[in-house]
Amino acid sequence: MASDTRAGQAIYNNRTLRLYDLVVLRLSNPLVWRCPTARILALYHRHVGTAHLDVGVGTGWYLDRCRFPSPTPRVGLMDLNADSLAFAAHRIARYRPETYRVDVLGAPAGGLAPFDSIGLTYLLHCLPGDIAEKAKAFDTVRPCLRDDGVVFGATILSGGVPVTAAARTLMRIYNRKGVFSNVDDTLPALRAALDQRFRFVEITVVGCVGLFVARGPR
Ligand SMILES: C[S@@+](CC[C@H](N)C(=O)[O-])C[C@H]1O[C@@H](n2cnc3c(N)ncnc32)[C@H](O)[C@@H]1O
Repeated sequence: MASDTRAGQAIYNNRTLRLYDLVVLRLSNPLVWRCPTARILALYHRHVGTAHLDVGVGTGWYLDRCRFPSPTPRVGLMDLNADSLAFAAHRIARYRPETYRVDVLGAPAGGLAPFDSIGLTYLLHCLPGDIAEKAKAFDTVRPCLRDDGVVFGATILSGGVPVTAAARTLMRIYNRKGVFSNVDDTLPALRAALDQRFRFVEITVVGCVGLFVARGPR
């Protein structure tokens, strides 16, 4: 595992995960990134499928709250961090989730029955490199997606979007600590990475967050 790949997941443990919903979802999203958590939850409501793979699961809050199209969805959880996987799996134990410990910048994840939807929420800005490098995450999970499936998610961008002074300051701190790695993450680069891989791409900017939906893998 590359050491810089490790940095973006190293902060997550049982103690920090217990604070995550308050610090990120309740406070930072609306007040700093200027993207209310409800906007991201709406993306889940709209696009989550009966068989859904979530990648970079954190606490599993969105999976706990979103409306699946079936009362008995198949839910896969994929993350490099064992504590994130266990935390999210415990939270949505009612769905009997499958768990996969995978580095999304590693080899393509083969051997799984494909899913209708794949969510990558607040994962890309944790990954090292520029967007072109971190977009390899889409290639890693491609074998897990049905050909008619949808990929959606959100990422905090630093260029091509409105970034407030508070957001710029917090981003600088998180980048210095290695929690984020998004100094080169721009909206045009995100669009290019998605266009290269999918025929239908929609990106909505809310605050400094890019919310994306992509279908039709090339
Ligand atoms: C900021 S949290 C996002 C949690 C959740 N999706 C949300 O939006 O609330 C990022 C998650 O991505 C995981 N992660 C970071 N780098 C990873 C990598 N290289 N491969 C797989 N998962 C990774 C972390 O362990 C963590 O669970």
